Amino acid sequence: MKVLDAEFVQGFIRLCDDGFHQNWHERNGGNLSYRIKPEEIESVMDDLNEDKPWQPIGTSVPDLAGEYFLVTGSGKYFQNVKREPEANICIIEVDERGENYRIRWGLVKGGRPTSELPSHLMNLEVKKKITNGRYRVVYHAHPANTVALTFVLPLEDEVFTREIWEMMTECPVVFPDGIGVVGWMVPGGRDIAVATSELMKKYDVAIWAHHGMFCSGEDFDSTFGLMHTVEKAADILVKVLSMGQGKRQTITPQNFRDLAVDFKVTLPERFLYEK
Ligand code: 13P
Ligand code: ZN
Repeated sequence: MKVLDAEFVQGFIRLCDDGFHQNWHERNGGNLSYRIKPEEIESVMDDLNEDKPWQPIGTSVPDLAGEYFLVTGSGKYFQNVKREPEANICIIEVDERGENYRIRWGLVKGGRPTSELPSHLMNLEVKKKITNGRYRVVYHAHPANTVALTFVLPLEDEVFTREIWEMMTECPVVFPDGIGVVGWMVPGGRDIAVATSELMKKYDVAIWAHHGMFCSGEDFDSTFGLMHTVEKAADILVKVLSMGQGKRQTITPQNFRDLAVDFKVTLPERFLYEK
């Protein structure tokens, strides 16, 4: 099968296009990765090349050794992925030590995988381990309301989780484990990848202060839906804060506990503090 005919590739392209239309991907902002299933890579093997050199990942991901990933290209625009996928995204193979990668398909006009490849692969490695292989998607975007909140809220997991949960009743059902926050760091390297993958051990959402958000999930729909839900709640919070009078009423800690019982989720008590 041709790579572009594969369902996982079509799902990947659709997410890029949907994200662009949400205004989360100015210029080359944001990146996406997908850990390809063995049967999926087998189905497109005839369409892969083998002449590209091995390159260092910039970190070590031994638990992903020998696996294949579909990722966006560095400096490439989400806006262009649907129009010209083979020039903007690529399939990479990770070597047997989990330290190098090589391009097996795509980026036909040149380029390399996203500069956030260390973060993507380290997050995918953590998620593979703790979800028994279920999670396959890591998505990074620059949604404006979430980023705006990093200028006014304390950069603490408890505060971000609680303030965002309070904005929409469904939030704690969609991400009951909460949200992690990383203070400002230089993007694109191993240090921010380590910090983010530490948060991914506890959460499906990590916010980078003054930069953007990372979400992880089982498939494209649930990962996009998670980003969408957090950003929608952040949008409401920005409106509430902008109205300037504070909250007259809100969802209380006891309301959250009642919700948890009926929706059969566990909500950590550290997010349900008295204000
Ligand atoms: P890339 O173009 O290298 O993916 O970088 C975009 C980005 O959002 C960096 O955080
Ligand atoms: Zn970014």
